[in-house]
Amino acid sequence: MSTTGFDLVVVSNRLPVDMQQDASGAISWTRSPGGLVTALDPIMKGAEGAWVGWSGAPDFAPEPFDADGTFLVPVPLSEGEIQRYYEGFSNDTLWPLYHDVITPPAYHRTWWDSYRAVNERFAEAAVAQAAEGATIWVHDYQLQLVPALIRQLRPDVRIGYFHHIPFPPFELFQQLPWRRQVIDGLLGADVVGFQRRSDATNFMNCVRRLTAVKPRTNIFSVHSDNGARRLVKAAAFPISIDSHSFDRLAHTDAVKKRAEEIRSDLGDPDVIMLGVDRLDYTKGIRHRIKAYGEILEDGRIDAASTTLIQVASPSRENVKAYRDLRQQVEILVGRINGEYGEIGHSTIHYLHHSYPQDEMAALYLAADVMLVTSLRDGMNLVAKEYVAARHDLGGALVLSEFTGAADELGGAILVNPHDIDGMKDAIVHAANMPSAEARRRMRRLRRKVMHDDVNKWAHNFLASLEDIGQRNEHNGAYAPTVTSAAEPVPAGSTAGGAS
Ligand code: F6P
Repeated sequence: MSTTGFDLVVVSNRLPVDMQQDASGAISWTRSPGGLVTALDPIMKGAEGAWVGWSGAPDFAPEPFDADGTFLVPVPLSEGEIQRYYEGFSNDTLWPLYHDVITPPAYHRTWWDSYRAVNERFAEAAVAQAAEGATIWVHDYQLQLVPALIRQLRPDVRIGYFHHIPFPPFELFQQLPWRRQVIDGLLGADVVGFQRRSDATNFMNCVRRLTAVKPRTNIFSVHSDNGARRLVKAAAFPISIDSHSFDRLAHTDAVKKRAEEIRSDLGDPDVIMLGVDRLDYTKGIRHRIKAYGEILEDGRIDAASTTLIQVASPSRENVKAYRDLRQQVEILVGRINGEYGEIGHSTIHYLHHSYPQDEMAALYLAADVMLVTSLRDGMNLVAKEYVAARHDLGGALVLSEFTGAADELGGAILVNPHDIDGMKDAIVHAANMPSAEARRRMRRLRRKVMHDDVNKWAHNFLASLEDIGQRNEHNGAYAPTVTSAAEPVPAGSTAGGAS
């Protein structure tokens, strides 16, 4: 670290490392797999970067440390904060509200208080690392208040915010008792990035309805405390993966051999279908398995020569909606396997685990049909990983219209997961797709995924931030944000509904 702080500070709920503790209690860290870390790695090293986030364990925040050239700054969360800020407000209020209220969001004032307190802690930890005029890049829905909090503490820095999940239409967002505070928090950023244009449009609509700011284009101005006007840009920056390293991994002999092994371990079925998801109700896992079961029942595919592998990695298990989902999925899988399985052959292989990237690449290479059937999904990077792994131009991707990826992946077979009959037709089509059509589609998919990788995403976002930052500096606008004196109250306000 330089004595004056870092030029780039990334802030996310979790640090980009996983903690391990051996039998003696000694702690070690390994880099989490994932595009964000890989994309930011060279940028962080080049820019003297620091990363601020939670360690993943309660009440555990060791001193900041250097990991592979990036300075990691752990932020502590107590047991109570994990329950109220993380499991509660982030994942039982915002998560369902931002995903089309697939399950009902819970609104609790104690959760909100904890969210605000934790956001303050993250903002303080971030500014403590930032050099004069630094860039601070805040990530995701757990930290929506952080941009404005940082601006109050440090008017000199450039602030970017990227929202990894969908941003809801005003008619849903309106339910949130703290809607105005959230919008004000986000407006503290110079650039507010989203996955899809429709997310950016929804955000601007919420700004229009809830504040005195009336954006007419996606670059609009808000008042600064010093009387100047500050520009804010709201735009889509669809995230991607480290496509080339995934492609390289899928080319290795070890991965190709493992893919063959998976196929033969399954008894060499004619068709392998694959679903890979966190076990989350947004992913449409039940809809997919229901459609698969009905296809078997209709006899449109042969249960004896078809296998569905469903990887469902454990997620947020302290939240009731996730526990309920697990039970429902496992009952459904059991029923279909009971009906159509034989000794030595299960028609669904359900795996409640997480796997390392090389095993994932082998699964993708082995799968004839990839099923991504989310009911709502910010992007869905699994779809992009599948494409990056298929250098052989094999396989077919069935992709929900309700993912951000659907805006980009023209070669996929798009489905509405609520339309079970339509999804059954698409799955059967994918399973029987003539190889010329499959190759044509995969070529098109790969052109997109290999070209628009996560590196390009990060560079585009940071270039936009540089542009708006320079314009704001030039206007002398860097000062704490005040968007308006009064909130226009929309009809049908539910602001009193918190419990
Ligand atoms: O998709 C949003 C996200 O927060 C991702 O960034 C993350 O990988 C995933 O959800 C799981 O989040 P967590 O386990 O931290 O709740």
